[in-house]
Amino acid sequence: MTSGLRKGLTSYGDAGFSLFLRKAFIKAMGYSDDALERPIVGITNTYSDYNPCHGNVPQIIEAAKRGVMLSGAMPFVFPTISIAESFAHPTSMYLRNLMAMDTEEMIRAQPMDSVIVIGGCDKTLPAQVMAAISADLPTVVIPVGPMVVGHHKGEVLGACTDCRRLWAKYRAGEMDDAEIEAVNGRLAPSVGTCMVMGTASTMACMIEAMGLSLPMSATIPAPHAERFRLAEASGKVAAEMAKAKGPKPSELLTPASFKNAQVVLQAIGGSTNGLIHLTAMAHRSPHRLDLEMFDQIGREVPVLVDLKPSGEHYMEHFHHAGGVPKLLAQLGDLVDLDAKTISGQTLRDVVANAEDVPGQDAIRSRDNPIKKEGGLAILHGNLAPRGAVIKQSAASPKLLKHTGRAVVFESVEDMTLRVDDPELDVTADDVLVLRNAGPKGAPGMPEAGYLPIPKKLARGGTKDMVRISDARMSGTAFGTIVLHITPESAVGGPLALVKNGDRISLDVAKRSIELLVDAAELERRRAALKPAAAPDEARRGYAWLFNETIMQADEGCDFDFMQRTGKKTE
Ligand code: FES
Ligand code: MG
Repeated sequence: MTSGLRKGLTSYGDAGFSLFLRKAFIKAMGYSDDALERPIVGITNTYSDYNPCHGNVPQIIEAAKRGVMLSGAMPFVFPTISIAESFAHPTSMYLRNLMAMDTEEMIRAQPMDSVIVIGGCDKTLPAQVMAAISADLPTVVIPVGPMVVGHHKGEVLGACTDCRRLWAKYRAGEMDDAEIEAVNGRLAPSVGTCMVMGTASTMACMIEAMGLSLPMSATIPAPHAERFRLAEASGKVAAEMAKAKGPKPSELLTPASFKNAQVVLQAIGGSTNGLIHLTAMAHRSPHRLDLEMFDQIGREVPVLVDLKPSGEHYMEHFHHAGGVPKLLAQLGDLVDLDAKTISGQTLRDVVANAEDVPGQDAIRSRDNPIKKEGGLAILHGNLAPRGAVIKQSAASPKLLKHTGRAVVFESVEDMTLRVDDPELDVTADDVLVLRNAGPKGAPGMPEAGYLPIPKKLARGGTKDMVRISDARMSGTAFGTIVLHITPESAVGGPLALVKNGDRISLDVAKRSIELLVDAAELERRRAALKPAAAPDEARRGYAWLFNETIMQADEGCDFDFMQRTGKKTE
């Protein structure tokens, strides 16, 4: 066997001495020569006390190590940063590229023949896959898995679709302090990622469909024994990949696999964030995502998975119904089943092994979909020359075609200060506009696109309004919400030109979002526009790097210097 320890030797001008030194130091940990003369599988450790979603990572690591050793290779666990949604300031998105760089460089810097990345909370899997594509070492992804559901007064609860719904009830005065406190302890009843079709679940499903993780890895609940058996099996696969030196991400990820991911994103009613992350992943490869093609896929691919926020169920129900393999089986010719996976199987093999679960109703057939069209639609218009996205599956049907008066908020802070002001001039027919909340403007494109319904309207029974912004939205949220308006206002996008009282027209069937103000007036406004100054924090360090190099949503919000040039997926 060849030792992975010889890889990437630190140069002291004498390779023999470098290896001698490396071995001398690692032997300080008590390793034998037998252990060290084996292929090495690196395993990322993203456990953090700040990341409850990753609470089962230590147990996953133990199981993965067991699998690696059962297959005769040697596991080496190493830390990378960990990002949890509710603990990352200013936003988790702000840190995604940092995690991608950290992960990529640590994969490159340390000797390993293959790597297992363990992640789950929204930005972690995209960061890790971006890193894996760039490092191009054989990679196995193990998602941490979704939480199990919670219960409250006979109702099933899920983080965080129900967090928002019940908080809205509390805001509207329909729930008292004691009850919202009780709910607070029941929304996230176990470790693992949000158990609705939020970004974490979306990414895990797409990554499974891209063949980068083992079948069922997206859906097994985080605390289940099966999750750890899957981790053991993943360890075995990673060991085989270390010995075979492949397949590498560059060998697995073809235009077909990126297309399959887009089909799955639509069919699961996935998170709008999934589109940005998939774009960023593609930009690390020679392939590209095409928004027009993505929209076209959405017109052809129905939503088949009945999960919140678009539907009714939760990830564990999706799992017990057969998970992603069953979904791929239902999608049939809409996916390219010849695409390969880490285990050497094709998706056709995965589909052949999909479980048939009589009576399940979480994964529908194509002739009985949740929605005839896919979850996400791409909009264009004078407000969004480079596109915007709406999750139509989670929108109110009556608002999908709507014209209303703009009520503009200059920033997230401005919105927070004024949205509940009883004096705010707003009606339920208006369009709430939030700007300066994009990738550069906020910075980090916060999930502020889900603007709260102004309190006075919420108390009057308004549940949804058209809301538009250059921000993102949590995949767990519900509403008629136009997001990722590109270019963003902070770089001079037309969103910067909207004034209170302008009329804005949304027509999802026509895929349009228009500011009904004539071009000459818009030109006058543009001429008066002052360029946004860089924030003080952006003078140094990571904030400077971010401010200087962050790209727009249609390019995946990666740093401009991290991409590869390449061709579009056709
Ligand atoms: Fe971690 Fe939702 S907060 S996945
Ligand atoms: Mg989220």
